[in-house]
This record gives sequence, C-alpha cells and structure tokens, in this order.
Amino acid sequence: MTSSLTRSLTGLAVGAAILLPMAAAAEGEVNIYSYRQPELIKPLIDAFTEQTGIKTSVLFASKGLGERIRAEGENSPADILLTVDIGRLDAAKSLGITQPVESDVIAENVPAQYRDPEGHWFGVTTRARIVYASKDRVAQDAITYEELADPKWNGKVCTRSGQHAYSIGLFASKLAHDGAQKTEEWLTGLKNNLARKPTGNDRAQVKAIYAGECDLALGNTYYMGKMQTNEKDPEQKEWAASVKLLFPNADGRGTHVNLSGMVMTKHAPNAQNAKKLMEFLSSDTAQQVYGATNFEYPVKPGVEADDRTKSWGTLKPDTISLADIAKNRKEASKLVDKVGFEDGPDS
Ligand SMILES: [Fe+2]
Repeated sequence: MTSSLTRSLTGLAVGAAILLPMAAAAEGEVNIYSYRQPELIKPLIDAFTEQTGIKTSVLFASKGLGERIRAEGENSPADILLTVDIGRLDAAKSLGITQPVESDVIAENVPAQYRDPEGHWFGVTTRARIVYASKDRVAQDAITYEELADPKWNGKVCTRSGQHAYSIGLFASKLAHDGAQKTEEWLTGLKNNLARKPTGNDRAQVKAIYAGECDLALGNTYYMGKMQTNEKDPEQKEWAASVKLLFPNADGRGTHVNLSGMVMTKHAPNAQNAKKLMEFLSSDTAQQVYGATNFEYPVKPGVEADDRTKSWGTLKPDTISLADIAKNRKEASKLVDKVGFEDGPDS
C-alpha cells in the first residue's frame, strides 16, 4: 500500500510539482497537496510526524492542484489541500473536491469567521491587506480604506491588479459592509487616485514608493517580512526601510484580513489522519510556528504573532466572516471591470 502510494505520488511529481517524501514510524500516513512552499510547511509536518508517528508526503505545485484532485477523483491520494486566499478555499468547495470536517478541537481553535459554516474549509493563518506608506512623504500614522479615494491622494496611490485575488478579497469585504453603490463610488475614487495603471505584485508597489512614484500602496503584511529579511535580493531591505505600515480602519470596523487555509479532500484515503493533522495545525505550537515562518497571524485567539510581525503595528482584524466575503467576490470582480480599474487613472 505504502510503496504503491509513494510510486503514484512520485509519478505525479512532474513539471512544476516537487515531491518531498518524509519517512517516519509506521502509524499510517497522510498525503498533502500544497500550494504553500515546501519550506513553509516542512518544520510543521516534521513536528506532526514526531508527535503522532504519522508519516506525511507533500506534493507541491504553484497551480492546478484543485483541478488535479478533481481529475483524480476517487483514486486521488490527496487527503488535505493547503492553500492561500478565500478565493481558492471557496473554489475548492465549489469544485466539489472537499468534504465537511467536524472537530470540536478545530471549532474551539479557529474562530467562526475564519472557517466555512459547513466545515469545508478552515483558516490556519491570516494576513492583513494594509497600506504601505512612505516614511518621508506621509506624516499620518492612521488611515481608512475609504480615505484612499479622497482626492487629496490624487496621483499618489499604487496597487497591483484589481482582479488579483488579494484585491478582490478587499473589494468584496467593502461590498459586504457597504453595498454595491458605495463600493462602486469608492473604487472609482481609488482608481482616479492611482499613480499608474495597476501593475506588478505587492512588493513592486513598495519598490515604487521607494522610487518616489507613489506615496501609498495596498499590500499584504507578510511581504514586509519577506523584504526585510531578503538576503537573496538585499535591495528589498531598502524598499522596506522606506515605508511604514498603516492598518486601515483600525478605529472602525477593522483591517481586512484574508486566509491561508486547509481543506480535507472528498475522497481522502486517510481521513482520520487528515483530521489529526488539521487539528494539529490549529494547535498553539503549530499556529506559532506556521505564523512565524511566513510572517502571518495565527487564527487561534491568544497565540501571538512573532516579534517582527508585531513590530509593524497592531492588527485589529475586521470581524466579518470570510464566507461572507467569498459570496461577494464575483460582484467585486464585475465592479473592477465596470469602473475600468485596470485602465488606471485618467481613463
Ligand atoms: Fe502573496
């Protein structure tokens, strides 16, 4: 069983996929398909194996895992899918590749706003979509998302594509709070304040602040850590040093957060072990390690983020449920098109 499964997993490890088999005592196994980089999850699953004796295999790929699980159907070796963004978690449920998981442990560790009401997906960590602001050119230390549409910031704001999942999550949260009309007005104002057409990833926006092209940019929190600690490309440390983080709506509804998360596959061959791993990932130790490894925030109340992440400011997360945000994603995408967001300012 084990060797045929290993062979079948190895057979899948082609192209962009990398397989990391991990040996351990024979207490059964659990197979993980992961969009998260192997180095982000290895310390955790090693600890899980040490604690339980359950052996793990990880198949990593940057795309296509949901479709792959669906295509593999009942023969899929996958027990768990690890991914990021409510868009992908919700898509896994819609694809029909998940099964509901009932666990008192997870229910206690993961607040209701960070899990599917029907148990098909669970958050493991959160990341906040904050405003990177130029230390030199922005005096204020607080901001709201709404203020990004204020004409006083005309030509000063940078962002990645409005159709990227990170943007859609934020816009969908605005829709869930304020409805279509206000969101459309806000998106139009935001578009008019852009310094340039939406382009590049989150780090590219911080680089643009460093280069003086804009003063404010939308981005996820963990990129600050990735830039501050970047030994491969040390110039990114300078980009990071040129900005401070403003946590929008800290005095109001709170800052928009999105998830990294997990699902159990519909045909999980090792469902019991998969449930144990999911419970482990919601535990104090795992929450701390997983959060610190990628500069994210643990979902479990009472578990603190690492010191570097805390040094950027205090996160007061928006309490709206990610399931409600998921429901508004399609409409958010339509609004991005409707206001011509991707065409940039003066369009
Ligand atoms: Fe990211």
